[in-house]
Amino acid sequence: MEKELELLFTQATTKIKAATTIAEVTALQLEYLGKKSILNDLLKKMKDISHEERLTVGKRANVIKTTLTELCQTKKTELENTMAMAMLEQEKIDLSLPGYNLTLATKHPLNQVIDEISQLFQELGYDIVFGTEVEDDEYNFQRLNLPIGHPARDMQDTFYITKNTLLRTHCTNMTARAISQMKSKTEIVAMISTGNTYRRDDDDATHSHQFMQVDGFLIAPQTSFANLKWTIQYFCQRMFGEDTKIRLRPSFFPFTEPSVEVDVTCVNCHGHGCSICKQTGWIEIMGAGMINPLVYQACGQDPDLTGFAFGIGIERIAMLKYGIDDIRRFYTNDVRFLEQFKKFD
Ligand code: DAH
Repeated sequence: MEKELELLFTQATTKIKAATTIAEVTALQLEYLGKKSILNDLLKKMKDISHEERLTVGKRANVIKTTLTELCQTKKTELENTMAMAMLEQEKIDLSLPGYNLTLATKHPLNQVIDEISQLFQELGYDIVFGTEVEDDEYNFQRLNLPIGHPARDMQDTFYITKNTLLRTHCTNMTARAISQMKSKTEIVAMISTGNTYRRDDDDATHSHQFMQVDGFLIAPQTSFANLKWTIQYFCQRMFGEDTKIRLRPSFFPFTEPSVEVDVTCVNCHGHGCSICKQTGWIEIMGAGMINPLVYQACGQDPDLTGFAFGIGIERIAMLKYGIDDIRRFYTNDVRFLEQFKKFD
């Protein structure tokens, strides 16, 4: 009987160890250890053997029973773990996959120039405003000493929305608005306005029907032409480099008297003469002057106020600063062009 017992033990152990599913283990457990199991059948025969043999067989049978029960349990746990691992493997997310490449955009070169100019004038105490793009004829022209029928309007012939409303032709409209709002003769106002301006123009490498400007002015008691000259000189050196020189040429703007056209030493050849400055060594960059008393008057202020004003084309500055050959590149959104301005941002 002992032999039979041992045989049963080895058989069961081998089968349980070889099982590949939990159901298989459960079936084996029933087969070998359940009520109607082979082991039980064997134990029923115990009554036919001697007392001593019964003792040893009984002990051994108990050991076998617990050993096999434990083995079944261990095998079940082992199979459960293998199943769980297989499931995990199947549902695995490969976190090592590269994600989408989100490239950081660059500030548009025109905005970079605007920011630089705004920063510079803010340091000098100027306010920054973004003006009305759809403007009344009155603020775009009349209050700037460009009455209806004035011949200088022709140069800025533009997009009218109604008879009296138009897309502004310059950012000087904000100057007219600010002067009109002044409360006293001794008030000090310094302001920079930036934004889009519009003029009927045939687009080419240097002209665009829509472009950007920075327009600035300062009004304070006893402001002189020397103050204007210092401001322009400071601005140009900050924008184009310490060694930049300026040259003022007499000019005409209805809103300034006297008026000047400002040239800077060529940013490319530093004054020696090259194709960019047409061998002159100078490049024209802005208009400026002392605010015309007729403007103060047209804005409902005392004509004795003193102040200066200046206007700059943003595209022109950006083209000179970065060596850009065609104004249209600013508006066509070609990333190959725009990406090049990352290094300046
Ligand atoms: N508004 C002028 C233009 O668009 C530029 C300009 C010239 C503005 C002289 C000024 C100024 O404020 O003083 O051509």
